[in-house]
Amino acid sequence: MENISYGKIVLIGAGHVGSAILDSLLRMNLADEIVVINRNEKKALGVVLDASHTTAFAYSANANIRVGTYEDCKDAQIIINTAGPSIQPGNSRDRMVLLQTNVQVMKEIMTQITTYTRSAIIINVSNPMDILTYIAQKEFNYPRNLLIGTGTLLDTARFNKMLADLCGVDAKNVTGFVLGEHGGTSFIPWNAVNIVGIPFHDFQKQFGLKESVDCEKLLHEVKVSGLDIVELKGYTSSGIALSVCRLVGAIMRNERAVVPASVVLEGEYGLEGIAMSLPCVISRNGVERTLQIPLDKEGEKNLKICYDYLRNVIESIS
Ligand code: 2OP
Repeated sequence: MENISYGKIVLIGAGHVGSAILDSLLRMNLADEIVVINRNEKKALGVVLDASHTTAFAYSANANIRVGTYEDCKDAQIIINTAGPSIQPGNSRDRMVLLQTNVQVMKEIMTQITTYTRSAIIINVSNPMDILTYIAQKEFNYPRNLLIGTGTLLDTARFNKMLADLCGVDAKNVTGFVLGEHGGTSFIPWNAVNIVGIPFHDFQKQFGLKESVDCEKLLHEVKVSGLDIVELKGYTSSGIALSVCRLVGAIMRNERAVVPASVVLEGEYGLEGIAMSLPCVISRNGVERTLQIPLDKEGEKNLKICYDYLRNVIESIS
């Protein structure tokens, strides 16, 4: 593999998500140095100390892990933001309840980050994902290719797993994307879904599935599964941790992997003024380019619903 450089990662937030990301980064040997920043420094120390003990095992990287400050962003290759509250069991099952609080948190964090760097790749994990990604990029004029939201990468993983189960194959054999908002208006361009290269609808006809796939129902299940996990275990962490590692791996290994991620639109599908997920080519330069999957009538309608919704939210806060 050409040009591998396992550099320095700054991880902001040491809650359930931040801790899971730290563990996964170590397990996957994705950094030489990981610096954790948390408002409650005592908590960060505990998380770092606990994770550091895993480095004694063969399957955990011998990275230098420590608690740090925003000054550490100066020479970071990647900054991962997980700060701010996340949705709680029993609340409205809507990530937008976090809007006011997390927009403020995001602005504070971007003010700190941009004091020290404008060249690190920022991966935003906090919700409401697409709104925070947009605000962070636009209000701080951060290079658009260097500000990536995990977006529907997680929804896509959920979709691939659910469809794979219905087809009786490994989730890694499914290619298909959930696009748009990491939330209620996400959509699936079914014309671009395939199983090992066989268009999904052909696969369904040719191989006869145990039960035929109800596309609408499946999309609904994908959308609510994160919220269901919150109800069941109090938070989500495993899927999002590996979503972040997928992006980090693509950056550190300069892969040019096609990964769905949230990015500020600059004319894709004729749109701008929001961030949402599209398949992105990810390399050490961040988002090298976006790919516009051709949309059918249904896809165009869904894109418009998603755009109008996100645009309204942005207008409501600016
Ligand atoms: C998730 O979908 C809650 O956004 C979080 O796992």
